[in-house]
Amino acid sequence: MKRGKGLTFVGDSRIQKYDKPKLNRDYSEFPGRTEEFYPDFLLKEWITGAVFLIGFLCLTVAHPAPLERVADATDTGYIPLPDWYFLFLYQILKYTYASGPFNVIGAIVIPGIAFTALLLAPWLDNKKDRHWKRRPIASGLMLVTVAIIFYTTWESVAYHDWEQQDAQGQIVFSNLDAEDPVFNELIRTNCTSCHGGELAGGSGPNLIEPEYDAATVEAFVRNGVGDVMPAFEDQLTDDEIVAISEFVADLEEVSDDEAQNTPDSGE
Ligand code: HEC
Repeated sequence: MKRGKGLTFVGDSRIQKYDKPKLNRDYSEFPGRTEEFYPDFLLKEWITGAVFLIGFLCLTVAHPAPLERVADATDTGYIPLPDWYFLFLYQILKYTYASGPFNVIGAIVIPGIAFTALLLAPWLDNKKDRHWKRRPIASGLMLVTVAIIFYTTWESVAYHDWEQQDAQGQIVFSNLDAEDPVFNELIRTNCTSCHGGELAGGSGPNLIEPEYDAATVEAFVRNGVGDVMPAFEDQLTDDEIVAISEFVADLEEVSDDEAQNTPDSGE
């Protein structure tokens, strides 16, 4: 590349100014340095494409995308996690003054300011000088932003409950019949919001696996369990409690083709 004196630029940009118009010259001026589109050039393109595709194939085989159970909007125990490149935004939503009553700040104000600033950067940062050291405000803001993105991404990964993440999406085949009116009762009383949309576990434990009899479940439902699960004694009638308890006690894991909890099974 040519450097130094004698070079002129268009405006304050780095585009070099040419005296002569840059017209395409005839290929015959470059003997031995041209190639035919077909087959030479096309063959090279094709080989490059094939190598890339095989590399991509190896990557997808080595890291398959995890398949989780069918999404269920009533399952509030399921904590969705965005892809890694959005984790910084996700983490910001967890800070005290950016979440809960301040959700608007975390969800709209902070990202709004950041993206508006990025959009306006060409107008705000319009000094003639291009060297980053001589534009301390723009460079400083960029470095701080990059640091914040790195830190919040790291924090999000470090504090996420990966065990719960693996468990919550697991496909559990069970004899749970979503059409059963008693199951609606379980949804209405919020059992599913803690125990998962298919009762296979959320913030509360899996109810399919343990082999409880109806009386045990009934005691749990009447009196509550631990500090988190409330007692339902006063919220439900005796009949409802008995029906719910029998429903839960009957739940068990079954094999793939006997499952009733998946949309395409149970016929
Ligand atoms: C607010 C969340 C919440 C709700 C709502 C809830 N549970 Fe629970 N449940 C839990 C938690 C948490 C535990 C585990 C408590 C512990 O072990 O300390 C639990 C435990 C249980 C257990 C014992 C399972 C075990 O392995 O320990 C049963 C059975 C159960 N719940 C059934 C139900 C049913 C039926 C309903 C709906 C009527 C219900 N739960 C509603 C949170 C909840």
